[in-house]
Amino acid sequence: MQNLRTYTNRLKDTEMAAKDISKLSGEAHPMTGGDGPNSYANNSTYQKEVAVAAKELVDRAIVEKLDVKFLLSSSTTFQFADLGCSIGPNTFLSVENILQAVKFKYHSQGWRCSDQILEFQVFFSDHTSNDFNMLFKSLPKNRQYYAAGVPGSFYGRLFPKASIHIFHASYAIHWLSRVPKEVADRNSPAWNKGRIHYLNSTDEVKRAFEAQYAEDVECFLQARAEEIVRGGLMVFIIPGIPHGIPHSDALANVTYQLLESCLMDMVRKGIVSEEKVDSFNIPMYYMSPQELEGSIEQNGCFSIEMMEILALPNGTVSNALVSASHIRAAMEGLLKQQFGDEVLDELFDLYHKKFEEQHSSTIEAGKAINFLVVLKRN
Ligand SMILES: C[S@@+](CC[C@H](N)C(=O)[O-])C[C@H]1O[C@@H](n2cnc3c(N)ncnc32)[C@H](O)[C@@H]1O
Repeated sequence: MQNLRTYTNRLKDTEMAAKDISKLSGEAHPMTGGDGPNSYANNSTYQKEVAVAAKELVDRAIVEKLDVKFLLSSSTTFQFADLGCSIGPNTFLSVENILQAVKFKYHSQGWRCSDQILEFQVFFSDHTSNDFNMLFKSLPKNRQYYAAGVPGSFYGRLFPKASIHIFHASYAIHWLSRVPKEVADRNSPAWNKGRIHYLNSTDEVKRAFEAQYAEDVECFLQARAEEIVRGGLMVFIIPGIPHGIPHSDALANVTYQLLESCLMDMVRKGIVSEEKVDSFNIPMYYMSPQELEGSIEQNGCFSIEMMEILALPNGTVSNALVSASHIRAAMEGLLKQQFGDEVLDELFDLYHKKFEEQHSSTIEAGKAINFLVVLKRN
């Protein structure tokens, strides 16, 4: 009887885990795969420059905050996960930087990182539909770590309990798990008709996005809190907005309004349907560091070890061609799903043209920050 009860309880646990894992699907909009001219691999220099700008601070955080003696008391495999890794090459750079900093820290504590003593395992994680083939094909040949791919959404559980020493995510957690339902519902006061984002929209729409962000960030932190080892670190690089400015002053608002006006031009020409524009929304949220700080405090599982605003990369934001190609590489999947493959060339030609016509002062007036946050599991 006792055995039967234990078995039934185990079964319930397994069912719970299965339910958790089923949350992993949700909306997925991976970056453009492959290595063609529109691919993310060839159009992500901005994100790379942000990672480069963060390097020194990330090194410092690892050297000062990572307690290697404590972490290695239970295992000689150092497990590291990059969430929202996409297809490279930026993920390889971030992974290499972090592993070098970890090795430096171990050496400085008198540990030998030879194969027998300390091994590194890196989990590259992204949505199931991410181009993992491209990622695996371009893994650095001289890497000194075991590599594995982990498919699924970071808004649910991805790893076993207490198994990861460092989590990293760059330019990823501003993607929401989904567009809030009410903004695409014509019967809701939060219906976002004629707009494709919350930044320039009504208070109802803004509140719906804020609520989705709050729900998502809690799911994210809760999942990581279970997966990370006690004392483990999380390093995030996030595009956001400065504290206290209206959403409409965000630089992203300038770019999304341009994209929106291109889509509306195409509606007028009869190339895309107005209904499709009305029901289209970009599932991204630009948080301020203070907003994230509030969410982390509310979650209560992590202490904030570092929070710093990074220097913005020069030039790339106001370059029309770079802006068009970067936005295309990041959003092609999302746009294709709603409007079809055949409109993309025309849409981005138009975007490029409008961006060039836009007065540079309008673009430069848009407020944007990238910030680094380092958390430690309590
Ligand atoms: C702009 S790319 C950043 C890629 C890379 N980290 C870099 O810095 O170049 C954002 C990545 O986050 C992934 N992503 C967005 N939401 C996600 C989610 N809920 N779960 C897993 N990956 C997600 C996307 O698929 C995409 O590959």
